[in-house]
Amino acid sequence: MSRLLLKDVRPYGEGDPVDVLVEGEVIAEIGANLQVDADEIVHAGGSVLLPGFVDLHTHLREPGREDAETVETGSAAAALGGYTAVFAMANTDPVADNAVIVEHVWRRGREVGLVDVHPVGAVTVGLKGEKLAELGTMRRSAAEVRIFSDDGHCVHDPLIMRRALEYTKSFGGVVAQHAEEPRLTVGAQAHEGANAARLGLAGWPAPAEEAIVARDCLLAGHTGGTLHICHVSTSGTADILRWWKSRKTAGAVSAEVTPHHLLLTDDRLETYDPVNKVNPPLRTDADVMALREALADGTVDCVATDHAPHAAQDKDCEWAAAKPGMLGLQTALGIVVRTMVRPGLLDWRGVARVMSERPAEIAGLADQGRPVEVGEPANLVLVDPDAEWTVRGAELASLGENSPFDGMQLPGRVVATLLRGRLTAHEGKVRR
Ligand code: DOR
Repeated sequence: MSRLLLKDVRPYGEGDPVDVLVEGEVIAEIGANLQVDADEIVHAGGSVLLPGFVDLHTHLREPGREDAETVETGSAAAALGGYTAVFAMANTDPVADNAVIVEHVWRRGREVGLVDVHPVGAVTVGLKGEKLAELGTMRRSAAEVRIFSDDGHCVHDPLIMRRALEYTKSFGGVVAQHAEEPRLTVGAQAHEGANAARLGLAGWPAPAEEAIVARDCLLAGHTGGTLHICHVSTSGTADILRWWKSRKTAGAVSAEVTPHHLLLTDDRLETYDPVNKVNPPLRTDADVMALREALADGTVDCVATDHAPHAAQDKDCEWAAAKPGMLGLQTALGIVVRTMVRPGLLDWRGVARVMSERPAEIAGLADQGRPVEVGEPANLVLVDPDAEWTVRGAELASLGENSPFDGMQLPGRVVATLLRGRLTAHEGKVRR
């Protein structure tokens, strides 16, 4: 059995440094100055040890757009970003609305072996919003799909949404909603506000998100189904979720926020650089502050990247023609440290909660988001909390280079990632 020794680590950033011995796939021993033989030693110099991150919202683009990302390149980005599990969204080409496609993605993830790749199944056939996809068949496939989403599109028909919540309830599934009332966002290019008005860009109004979130909370409560809200972007959505979760009959509703919505605002429109185009759009300072608060107090459960790589020709063009989306896997931790840890809104236990434990719970993963304790699976990330690094979009592992954080200095660096006891990334390099 392989033995890996992590020397001088601080679980959850607490207490004096200890050593952690990983034997095979599990944490075998934790203690000060362990005197043991090991096949490999990682000298951590007091770095923070956390459960490996779990991303509920990743676009891996395979099949169909392998010029933007593949399961292999996306898995590398995930490992380098500290992730041990990612959920691959269904808006591929062809759409992941059947067992063949989800099994393909799942199998590719296993072959690459850098991160657990869980395919998300589409809610409706072809993401068209008209007819439920074969949710049960995807659930029973080798990929054991549990989360279903038409992300990129909203399941806007309330009856289809109701049926999806009812049907997935029968097997413990989750419906992850991209909340966007399409009749309110026809032609939308940016957050509806002063900046878009000044620049002549058609607006994406906050109530287009909020109306669907409120409606779907009501439907989840009524049906007893499990609802997850993707990429919450407005302070109004945070208010609705806070109100809904305060009710005794709230049922199972969870929500995620992206790193970019925790940091960037629509002031970025000024440059007309499509690297800042994303759906839902970057909003206002007040929204950013409300989202940070909502993440800190648990109203929003977790961080999810909405990692959305695009090929150069889909971003290096005029604003209206550009595809929405931003890279996220390798910069998520840095943004969370900058927006939540440094201002004192989250400690490292909080980071473990929002980037690992809650997403693992929402997804029903038994072996992820587990405590850093003896006997637990060694899905881990080691973070240097003091290191600062400069993002270079072109140097990230993704095929797409569309990082809005290019050139930005970020705090908090991933030193190493372990998947079931094996190093998948170390010192900025992927380990295969
Ligand atoms: O910005 C986005 N990009 N938002 C989405 O909902 C979809 C995603 C993509 O697939 O590129």
